Amino acid sequence: MSAEPKLINPSEIKISQTKMLIDGKWVDSASGKTFETINPATGEVIAHVAEGDREDVDRAVRAARKAFEEGPWRKMSARERGRCLYRLADLIEKHFDELAALETLNNGKPINESRSADLPLTIECYRYYAGWADKIEGKTIPINGPFFTYTRHEPVGVVGQIIPWNFPLLMQAWKWGPALAAGCTIVLKPAEQTPLTALRVGELALEAGIPEGVVNIVPGFGETAGAAVAEHMDIDKVAFTGSTEVGKLIMQAAGRSNLKRVTLELGGKSPNIVFADSDLDAALEGAFQGLFFNQGQCCCAGSRLFVEKNVYDDFAQKLVERSRKQVVGDPFDPKTTQGPQVSQEQFDKIMDYIRSGKEQGAKLLTGGNRVGSRGFFIEPTIFADVGEDMKIAREEIFGPVLSMIPFKDVDEVIARGNRTMYGLAAAVWTKDINKAHRLAAELKAGTVWINCYDVFDTAAPFGGFKMSGIGRELGSYALENYTEVKTVTVAL
Ligand code: NAI
Ligand code: MG
Repeated sequence: MSAEPKLINPSEIKISQTKMLIDGKWVDSASGKTFETINPATGEVIAHVAEGDREDVDRAVRAARKAFEEGPWRKMSARERGRCLYRLADLIEKHFDELAALETLNNGKPINESRSADLPLTIECYRYYAGWADKIEGKTIPINGPFFTYTRHEPVGVVGQIIPWNFPLLMQAWKWGPALAAGCTIVLKPAEQTPLTALRVGELALEAGIPEGVVNIVPGFGETAGAAVAEHMDIDKVAFTGSTEVGKLIMQAAGRSNLKRVTLELGGKSPNIVFADSDLDAALEGAFQGLFFNQGQCCCAGSRLFVEKNVYDDFAQKLVERSRKQVVGDPFDPKTTQGPQVSQEQFDKIMDYIRSGKEQGAKLLTGGNRVGSRGFFIEPTIFADVGEDMKIAREEIFGPVLSMIPFKDVDEVIARGNRTMYGLAAAVWTKDINKAHRLAAELKAGTVWINCYDVFDTAAPFGGFKMSGIGRELGSYALENYTEVKTVTVAL
């Protein structure tokens, strides 16, 4: 990693891989089809990538099965598996500049954020799980009678992993880290919008000495390649991150096929709650970044901003002022703080929500328009006085659109904060420690931040209550997703 990033010319970014990875080899899809991958800052085609479908998924599963049952992965010591993961982390670090640029090119996120968030968190995630590989332990259990009983935590087997486009490298790391540490083999389907960094990491995985067939990557669309993963009879577990709608389909497919284990990390409509007795400057920055970070494309975005009534108007005005400092534009410009939305589809969906907010009578304080005439840029948009029944207060927008809602007291805001089908995250801003812990206990969310927002660490579990998901990623908790517990009893 260089200290001073050079200004990058997107046309000079090397795209080393557009094929799919099956059994350690880079191959075309069985159909020979490819699909376009787009630069969201310009709408132009960057590359054509092999388009996987059922047959390709099937080939990938056979490779992963062989690598699991017969291959060197299973026979390799846990410590050596850990070393492979450390080497992968080192190689990602070695190619830091290249991967950060490629992520920005394909996803549109500002280069500063690729460099300060996505890459460091990705590298740390592989290192963290490298350390776990030889620390996955069972128990000895004192049962009745002359017996010796112990448990083994064995890898679940072949896992299918379907990931989204908002943090492509990081979502791959959250999935690969614990699965590989546990000894599983993988068929990964990256999002169709952002396949490029996943393929590059596939190359680095081979270079790191991860044996053939252990990681397979099948780029393609959800309805075809993704559905084939969810329905496959020889995949033991599927891990999915994306929309709640598709999460339900994944679970149904698992139920219809082989009852593969399912973990889901889905949408959110997270309440960010600001009390008048908080450090209001810190709360303002937290409210702003909690929604606008990553173009608003975060599952845990603080999209319902509850502000206590007596400071509400002032807070709203300051938020609008803060939004004027957001620099929307070329994601490769180091000064840029907001890039384009990832795709035309997402752009259109967000513009529809902005229209609906206006139609349903929310007060548009700022923004609401497209920026420029090419690429998928949207102004930072803030609505005030958003009614709880409005679509923009209920549905995940996944864009730079913040909804402000005034509230009067603690009980009211707990009830209203919880009035959603989601339960991924929540935040509370207050200097009153009793109030803070009361809300932490009562809010139905997998993560509650007190006087901070979006603090992520590989060691801390993350996942959803209610329709935000099933299971937890990160930390030691994620290892449970990739292991089966076996009880062994020996007569003495
Ligand atoms: P999506 O849920 O359709 O896509 C996520 C992943 O699932 C992609 O790899 C996609 O190819 C795959 N997929 C799609 N349909 C599938 C199917 N039938 N079977 C198996 N896999 C399938 O999300 P999309 O369409 O990109 O975005 C729609 C909305 O979902 C967003 O506006 C946002 O609200 C939410 N979303 C949430 C994310 C999160 O981090 N929780 C990430 C991305 C989107
Ligand atoms: Mg979709």
